Amino acid sequence: MKVLHVCSELYPLLKTGGLADVLGALPAAQKEIGLDARILIPAYPAISAGIPDTGVVAEFHNSAAGHVVLRYGEFNGVGVYLIDAPNLYAREGNPYHDQWYNDYADNYKRFALLGWVGAELATGLDPWWMAEVVHAHDWHAGLTSAYLAYKGRPAKSVFTIHNLAYQGLFAYHHLFEIGLPTSMFNVNGLEFYGQISYLKAGLYYSDAVTAVSPTYAREITTPEFAYGFEGLLSTLHSQGKLVGILNGVDDNIWNPNTDSYIQDHYKLKSMTGKKKNKAALQAHFNLPEKPDALLFVMITRLTEQKGVDLLIQSAENIIKQGGQLALLGSGAPSLESALLGLAHKHPKNIAVKIGYDEPLSHLMVAGGDVILVPSRFEPCGLTQLYGLKYGTLPLVRQTGGLADTVVDSTAENIKERRATGFVFNEANSQALSHAISRAFSLWKKQRTWFTVRTVAMEQDFSWQISARRYEELYRRI
Ligand code: ADP
Ligand code: GLC
Repeated sequence: MKVLHVCSELYPLLKTGGLADVLGALPAAQKEIGLDARILIPAYPAISAGIPDTGVVAEFHNSAAGHVVLRYGEFNGVGVYLIDAPNLYAREGNPYHDQWYNDYADNYKRFALLGWVGAELATGLDPWWMAEVVHAHDWHAGLTSAYLAYKGRPAKSVFTIHNLAYQGLFAYHHLFEIGLPTSMFNVNGLEFYGQISYLKAGLYYSDAVTAVSPTYAREITTPEFAYGFEGLLSTLHSQGKLVGILNGVDDNIWNPNTDSYIQDHYKLKSMTGKKKNKAALQAHFNLPEKPDALLFVMITRLTEQKGVDLLIQSAENIIKQGGQLALLGSGAPSLESALLGLAHKHPKNIAVKIGYDEPLSHLMVAGGDVILVPSRFEPCGLTQLYGLKYGTLPLVRQTGGLADTVVDSTAENIKERRATGFVFNEANSQALSHAISRAFSLWKKQRTWFTVRTVAMEQDFSWQISARRYEELYRRI
């Protein structure tokens, strides 16, 4: 089965979040189980630099982009089509906005071309390979399904929601520039309160829609999580067209026994490396090198979604109990400065690094005792999965993929060897603070801590499982 993934990020070449990790792992896992999976992505500078050996598949003129060359190369054993259109994509850095966080004004053109090429690859733009399933990811690729529907559905289409908070909304008058008929600008179509929504195009026109966890797939049928799409999403859910398929973890990148970013490897049967990573992490962050201080870590985009403000309000509880917190992240300037202020005030307990740092993120997952993910909503979440694999117990809010992957350390769950971390319910600082206190209590019972840690490390969130689920879905449609 020929499957084309249409997307705008690819680990490790270009990444703003977990979307990149998924595209860096899922197509390869699908190839391992016998699917013929390829990727389509704009030739952003980082993508072209990472895939230098390409051949020309097609050349054409596009009114928005001018001269466009479709190239094909390989990356980590997976075939990748690159849309080489310098007028639209030759911009360094973040693929969606400039360095001042302003969305590019021509995003509607940039992501229309991505969707259009995605659909054309089902009908012969590459005469040697025609996609049978076109699998689009997030709003960036949402128009793919609309173009396919407009072309009479030559291939099946799947759309994956990684995050409903980003919707790709553009003014109506752009419809004439993206080559879709006015009949599609309809409430039963891609119209959303008077604008074009690329996200809605993906939801409405695809043969199947997936969310990246079963709980998130249910949550987004309710007004609290749906950003106004609850009507459409409830219908899709009741028709069986919206399903949740959990993400996995790429064992080549995230494995404490082989991780190329850490010096001291470890595994369940030989855990001393973890202690060394903790010492190295404390040293890196200039925190006192105390082996028995409970060390919390968090690696995150700094946005409203991630509940960092709740953590800032609960940090006192970590300090009071002699714990430590190391945080790595970047994003909202107000959160950045609040975090830096906290670290400045409590240098013995709190350390913050603002920025994006791949190697450091690995040391943090390896060296921490607890990994924090107190999100308001979380479609899947990956860092809690890394935490489980590295024996760094996740402390998470009960939402989305966090609820599906972490089992709370209640007395009963511990006894039944099911507990893997700490789960709290309400999105407020008291609830988070209470969960932090529970982590301290368990830390005092080291033997029980080790039991929970063992169960955490035994969990299997491999991509093979998810790859099979997607295959079943493709076959069903
Ligand atoms: P989201 O996609 O919403 O940001 P996920 O948990 O799915 O959340 O994925 C986040 C990914 O980005 C993880 O691989 C995480 O390690 C990584 N990440 C986030 N912020 C940073 C950072 N500042 N430095 C390094 N890696 C980061
Ligand atoms: C999104 C979500 C995150 C998910 C990731 C990969 O960015 O916020 O929860 O893990 O996509 O699917």
